[in-house]
Amino acid sequence: MTHTSSTKEIPAVGAIPKHIAIIMDGNGRWATKRFLPRVAGHVKGVEAVRGMVEACAKRGVSYLTLFAFSSENWRRPAEEVSLLMRLFVTALEKEVAKMHANNIRLKVVGDLTRFDAHLQKMIIAAEEKTANNQGLTVTICANYGGRWDIIQAMNRLQKDRLIAGQAEQEVTEEQLAAYLSMAYAPEPDLFIRTGGETRISNFLLWQLAYSEFYFTDTFWPDFDAEALDISIQSYQNRERRFGRTSAQVTEQTSTQESK
Ligand code: IPE
Ligand code: IPE
Ligand code: MG
Repeated sequence: MTHTSSTKEIPAVGAIPKHIAIIMDGNGRWATKRFLPRVAGHVKGVEAVRGMVEACAKRGVSYLTLFAFSSENWRRPAEEVSLLMRLFVTALEKEVAKMHANNIRLKVVGDLTRFDAHLQKMIIAAEEKTANNQGLTVTICANYGGRWDIIQAMNRLQKDRLIAGQAEQEVTEEQLAAYLSMAYAPEPDLFIRTGGETRISNFLLWQLAYSEFYFTDTFWPDFDAEALDISIQSYQNRERRFGRTSAQVTEQTSTQESK
């Protein structure tokens, strides 16, 4: 199923966000603060992922999207990169069966061709195993970049048109959006970045067009269910207008309610 832009329909104020997207940042600083090697922060970070998946499932969130490795993270020291890859493999080995038992659907998006063959196979197997689960959809963004996503969408769309023998024509938003790597999900309602930085770092550029942003200084390994609730409360107090006036939004919401 392809979703139309989430900016067309206004969710009710106070609703639980349907889709939460998180930049899990601050693992390294969490460890350094404790005089531990950065890897210790990444290990703790994986535990925080487990907690977040559980918390989101419990709260009735439908989509949880986690930025695990950006297309720019290859620039890190080789040992850190290979450790992150190993952690990814171990996490898949340990968690997929549990996720499946909890009705969770797992997706991994990004340019996976740069990962070694074993990891790629594990990813495909995990996605296939959980494909029909109806509970929370967890998406891991790995070797992901927002610019890469838009470009790959454009390239695939053009290729399909060429194969279909279609004459050159302009591309609409809806047509392009259908080729984005997360076309199966609505756009994020709530975007969270932990670790104190206030930037997007090439995460979901297209899909965050109208998301609500929440930044916290808490390092990712410390971001627990209680911290999640605080971010959700912040979201619930906001009025999403998508270009309209506040009066229009109030009117629309009250007619929706009286229906
Ligand atoms: C986020 O934590 C995890 C990844 C990018 C893989 P960092 O490793 O960026 O932690 P800091 O920002 O150095 O503290
Ligand atoms: C962004 O974190 C990517 C992930 C969390 C995976 P970084 O810590 O790499 O971001 P920048 O480069 O400092 O902006
Ligand atoms: Mg960082």
